[in-house]
Amino acid sequence: MACLTTSGRLACGSRRQQTHKFLCQLFAVRCQSLSTSTSVSSSSSLASSAYPLQRQRQQQQQQQLRRGFHGLSFSIGQDYLDLLQNPHSCSHHLKYSQCSKTNLRQHSSVHTQQPAGPVREIQIDPYIILDDELKYFYDDVRDLLQSGTSQPELDTIASYYFDGQGKALRPMVTMLMAKAINYHLNNESHQLVHKQRQIALFSEMVHSASLVHDDVIDQSDFRRGKPSVNALWNHKKVTMAGDYILSIASIMIARLRSDDVTIVLSKILTDLVQGEFMQLGSRETENERFAHYLTKTYRKTASLIANALKATAVIAQADDNVAELAFQYGRNIGLAFQLVDDMLDFVSSTEQMGKPTAADLKLGLATAPVLFACEKYPELNPMVMRRFSEPGDVERAFELVHKSHGLEQTRFLAKKHCNEAIRLAQELTESPYQKGLQVVADLVINRMK
Ligand code: FPP
Ligand code: MG
Repeated sequence: MACLTTSGRLACGSRRQQTHKFLCQLFAVRCQSLSTSTSVSSSSSLASSAYPLQRQRQQQQQQQLRRGFHGLSFSIGQDYLDLLQNPHSCSHHLKYSQCSKTNLRQHSSVHTQQPAGPVREIQIDPYIILDDELKYFYDDVRDLLQSGTSQPELDTIASYYFDGQGKALRPMVTMLMAKAINYHLNNESHQLVHKQRQIALFSEMVHSASLVHDDVIDQSDFRRGKPSVNALWNHKKVTMAGDYILSIASIMIARLRSDDVTIVLSKILTDLVQGEFMQLGSRETENERFAHYLTKTYRKTASLIANALKATAVIAQADDNVAELAFQYGRNIGLAFQLVDDMLDFVSSTEQMGKPTAADLKLGLATAPVLFACEKYPELNPMVMRRFSEPGDVERAFELVHKSHGLEQTRFLAKKHCNEAIRLAQELTESPYQKGLQVVADLVINRMK
């Protein structure tokens, strides 16, 4: 028997079951939200009350969903030069994108609470369609870390950032791409999804390990609204805890017994280290500086997403074109994510970000908004070269960035990378996951924290 997919196409066999499950997940969430707001009991709320632990996890998940969004080619060439030479070129695109700003959470609850309409109108929430894969994600990380050591304090420090309070952007995008590729290849075995989830676990663990090391390097005080790991333990223990997370993640990947996957994922590690190293230096000319910034941004942020997504294609034995598509989608999303992050460092509040703002300037870093602003205010150049080290540099640079078009230009460049990611996702066979990949690009460009 055939049934309707989200696109109104006909599906059968395992795809029909998958679509059915996807719709059930959406409606389960709808029932849960109705049961909390109007006391209408549903089978899911009754069932959950019988299992306090499960209920607690569901509540945590719902809180996570309510909190809002938890999370970039790489050509310095024309994109940047156009923007540099014509800073106003982005203004009408920008107005459009600001008008079309959507909050995914608002969207998903509005649509799921409407009376039954055409199925294709449902706005996809990636976190909901990946419930099975993400539900116990952080529990699994904590179990892995705990089972690998006889040193309770090492486990405590290593687990500190796996508190479920993060955006889980990397695992979510990795699993979306994995499942979009599986659908595209018509290979949706549980064994394959399990292996891809190990890749997602690896990406999140490596990300956290790099943040643990980064907090030691940056001597930061806060991350995600709580004291950073180095504020609570000494740097020797914290550095080793970062190494420990990496070693546990590496063992997990070795168990996949795929040399190709190991090679792809190892690239993430060399890129992270080189990206962080590049950040310690700067370049003389404006073009060199922007190229340096983009390469650094790729290595520090985008490589992890790009290579994790590519690894899910490699483990699924996808051909080189699909693997390259996954890589490019991840690279564009990663670059956009970091560009928005660099922009938010100038416009967001400390409360929203969970860490101090204007932090990059204080660390001596010239990110995209400053590099764009240099065009209009050349007095920024010597400040960039001395890494904002003289009294008043940080305040003056902050002011000049706001007076320039640097923030709009940064956002416009991020938007271009998101559009490219959407174009790439559209090359995969239509599925809830393929649609979810497009939603992610919207989330990245519209995120506020
Ligand atoms: C956050 O940067 C840091 C990173 C994304 C990567 C840091 C990489 C290393 C420390 C190299 C070591 C790598 C491994 C795998 C252990 P940020 O300071 O710009 O962002 P923040 O404001 O979130 O701290
Ligand atoms: Mg930092």
